[in-house]
Amino acid sequence: MTKKIQLPADSPMTRKSFLFGVAAASFQIEGGADTRLESIWDRFCAKPDKIADGSDGLVACDHFNRWEADIDLIEQLGVDAYRLSVSWPRVMHKDGTLNSEGADFYVRILDRLAEKNIKAFVTLYHWDLPQHLEDQGGWLNRDTAYKFAEYVDAITKVFGDRVHTYTTLNEPFCSAYLGYGVGVHAPGLSGPDEGRIAAHHLLLGHGLAMEVLSRNSPDTDNGIVFNFSPYHPETDSEADKIAAKAADDLFSQWFIQPVMDGKYPDIIDTMSAAEKPVICDGDMAIISKPIDYIGINYYTREIIRASDTARFEKSEAGPLPRTDIGWEIYSDGLTEVLLDMHNRYKLPPIYITENGAAMKDVITPDGVQDHDRLGYYQNHLMAVHNAIKAGVDIRGYFAWSLMDNFEWAEGYAKRFGIVYVDYETQERTIKASGYAYRDFVGSRTKDVIHHAQVG
Ligand code: FCB
Repeated sequence: MTKKIQLPADSPMTRKSFLFGVAAASFQIEGGADTRLESIWDRFCAKPDKIADGSDGLVACDHFNRWEADIDLIEQLGVDAYRLSVSWPRVMHKDGTLNSEGADFYVRILDRLAEKNIKAFVTLYHWDLPQHLEDQGGWLNRDTAYKFAEYVDAITKVFGDRVHTYTTLNEPFCSAYLGYGVGVHAPGLSGPDEGRIAAHHLLLGHGLAMEVLSRNSPDTDNGIVFNFSPYHPETDSEADKIAAKAADDLFSQWFIQPVMDGKYPDIIDTMSAAEKPVICDGDMAIISKPIDYIGINYYTREIIRASDTARFEKSEAGPLPRTDIGWEIYSDGLTEVLLDMHNRYKLPPIYITENGAAMKDVITPDGVQDHDRLGYYQNHLMAVHNAIKAGVDIRGYFAWSLMDNFEWAEGYAKRFGIVYVDYETQERTIKASGYAYRDFVGSRTKDVIHHAQVG
């Protein structure tokens, strides 16, 4: 049974210059819903049958009241960085002015992190759009991109120099496709082309926010976070291979290529006018403004097959062991996507901004035993190591998640934490994986200093 995380001694990841962190997101942990505006996730949770266990984010991990103890916990884990997100509905009023009380909540967190020497990686949008903006069309409305830039302008002025790294958007694929294409996430809308319309406005919002960040926060690293999976054909048939490529084009390249190259993938040329988003003059130049780093979230792979009615369909045929949320465990896929993106684009430095697994925890008198999760971390950290060895410039890794939390449409039943949360008492308990992560992070050595050769 794996009890430890171990990497080859010569791995750059065993040096202190490789950053390790833990990640979470506002709606998933904060609660404190009565002190902020309604978000699309509040509205979505209130609808019947949208959340597997019928739960919501009104209290969540009560981080809104327990943030000080939670930062102590992060300190105990010994990590270099904490990736958090700002709740837009907490920090802005409906009229577009700053809610300074809400903003102060984050300022206090950022100050505490600084006191403890923990770097703040701040995500500006992790899916919790204010509901009043959804009432005006949400991400289907181009204006939301400009509203996003106004919010980013207001909040980054308040944060000043407290932040190490800004992320404009977390996983625009999920906001666009899951939220507006198939409707399994908030706001729960669906339509054949809506995902691509929302995606364009999200990407535009990213570009506009990058312009704001380069004015308000030129000294932080500013970038965006994508989720990637390898899309494998179910069989060797030509039809399945074409389908898998279409899935990759529409789910992965559709998001990164505009940012890196200022264009959508060529598959756009096969679409009718109705299927394409409206792209205004200058949009692609805004979207492709240089970024300082790229964040990659990785969990699993997808198996794809040809379909009679669509460009592709997902298959459940994957034979690999699965996590508690049903995702295949495939650590090589992380190396695969990293190398693939590295070969396609001229990428800036990369952070793995999320990686982790929902697993069944075994609660014993000796603590929370989660050796499956620990094994997942061991193998995926090796996958990152392998990508670095193959030449990919990766600077850091964040475990998803700091603690169990509201897992969107799955509610609280699926636990991703390296810290266990008892939702009755809000007690936190570091799991075996959390201790292993702490021990590994703590075992890193100073960087080898190469002295210039004399004589
Ligand atoms: C990612 C999300 C994150 C979390 C993990 C499991 O898609 O960014 O909030 O829910 O999945």
